[in-house]
Amino acid sequence: MKVVTTLDDLRHARAALAGPMGLVPTMGYLHEGHISLVRRARTECASVAASIFVNPAQFGPSEDLAAYPRDLARDLALLEEAGVDLVWTPTAEIVYPAGFQTWVTVEEMARPLEGAHRPGHFRGVATVVAKLFNAFQPQRAYFGQKDAQQAAVIRQMTRDLDFPVEVVICPTVREQDGLAMSSRNAYLSQEQRAAAPVLFRALSAAAMAWAAGQRDAEDLRQLMAGIIDAEPLARRQYVSVADPVTLQELEGPVAGALLSMAVIVGTTRLIDNLVLGEA
Ligand code: PAF
Repeated sequence: MKVVTTLDDLRHARAALAGPMGLVPTMGYLHEGHISLVRRARTECASVAASIFVNPAQFGPSEDLAAYPRDLARDLALLEEAGVDLVWTPTAEIVYPAGFQTWVTVEEMARPLEGAHRPGHFRGVATVVAKLFNAFQPQRAYFGQKDAQQAAVIRQMTRDLDFPVEVVICPTVREQDGLAMSSRNAYLSQEQRAAAPVLFRALSAAAMAWAAGQRDAEDLRQLMAGIIDAEPLARRQYVSVADPVTLQELEGPVAGALLSMAVIVGTTRLIDNLVLGEA
């Protein structure tokens, strides 16, 4: 596995890779969710590349950029073991050199849900992913369904900017008790970790109620909200029943909706989702 830092070295190394090439963009501190993306890419592509870059542009001023967990040596060992051919670990100065002033903004789809609570977040995500697509020129790129709105925003950006990249969204990987894997789970104390599966419990309860015939969007939101609010360590930021493509909130009877939520457990903000009918 080749590990490079500069853009020139990346372009050189990328040119030597067999096609089709699959890209797994990450912010590091890898877990089984990331590795599942690498494995999927491995089965579908002749070569696999990954990036490790904690993208400052997608963190708000009061968010956890400085505290975001990092362990480059462990990440590289995991990627090598999973069969990655090339890893790019750029610095912030390489991705955003002095004078940088071009941003990618996806409009409507980036406004609700995460966009409403994390202003500027998707501008940072769309910009860095566009730069990664330019730098790596992958045929496919792999992202997790856990960040459902991110996946939708990246799909839209890829289509709108005519990137010849197939965006592949892979299922959320969960711990045994249902907690979605996330690098931010590392922030949870033992007590908070025990409370954190409340997100999956609430989503599952709504999916089961829907399967049992409860179709009304507001009833499903209320059901999820009630379960979150009953957990003393959890503070609900939003619960949503939205159209999975437009991400607009739904009213009345629903089918195939995206159930999603953001919940603060202790001081850690967790997100999760399920699509009705796929659960
Ligand atoms: O999902 C992530 O880890 C990040 O948002 C991504 C896609 C690597 C962009 O920084």
